[in-house]
Amino acid sequence: MGTSVAQWLDERTGAGTVWQALFKRKIPRGVNFLYTFGAATMFIFMLQAVTGIILAMYYSATPETAYDSIMFFTTQVGYGSIVRGLHHWGASSMVVLVALHALVVFALGAYKYPRELTWVVGILLLGIVVGFSFTGYLLPWDEKAYWATTVGTNMAGTVPFAGNFLLLVLRGGSELGAVSLTRFYAYHTVLLPSLALMLIVVHLYLVVKHGVSVPPWLWERKPKLEAKRVEA
Ligand code: HEM
Repeated sequence: MGTSVAQWLDERTGAGTVWQALFKRKIPRGVNFLYTFGAATMFIFMLQAVTGIILAMYYSATPETAYDSIMFFTTQVGYGSIVRGLHHWGASSMVVLVALHALVVFALGAYKYPRELTWVVGILLLGIVVGFSFTGYLLPWDEKAYWATTVGTNMAGTVPFAGNFLLLVLRGGSELGAVSLTRFYAYHTVLLPSLALMLIVVHLYLVVKHGVSVPPWLWERKPKLEAKRVEA
């Protein structure tokens, strides 16, 4: 039954080819757990999307109601504290995992030809992950969130020439207020997820196109392995 549905879909969409390319691709000999941080980041990203959507169903983005809506979710809604906890710790672990992923890619020289663009898209994704943390921090609208964001946006305001403009774009006004909260909510739930999704698709496309890099300890054999890929 499962196979016939899969076959039906594959014949009409070609989804099987995408599945094969993503999950049944060949990887070089010598690949070890260091290569798993990208996939781990991907997993946490999906977890954040699911828990974020549930949180958004209860969250109310005004200064009068934001804190209470989160307290209601945590204390009154079934599994609310677990969902919020997963989203909270997911955010921290995503920062750690993406940093480890970037460090490993750098240490193994996986950013070199022909993967320079994979690296550049990765750097943009790193910025987006930091952006998620920064914009999400304000949403509970408690003292800590308010003052941390005041300090953070003030720092953006010190950028030479563009500082004032950046401050206005981030806060939606000169002070942190109702417009800032709406704006941060839009950044966190609309702008950044859309950008992240697009960039992840490009990132994974490039990963599949170039294949996983050969570890440095097998580099003497690399020209042969890379040549095989180009031919294919
Ligand atoms: C949301 C953030 C990110 C996600 C979901 C993600 C996901 C992935 C996945 C699943 C892979 C393939 C498996 C692997 O080698 O680990 C990969 C490879 C790669 N990533 Fe990322 N990545 C992210 C951010 C970054 C960052 C910040 C960088 C570097 C600045 C980066 C650079 C690369 C490179 C160069 C490769 C190819 C590695 C190789 O072929 O060995 N990625 N990424």
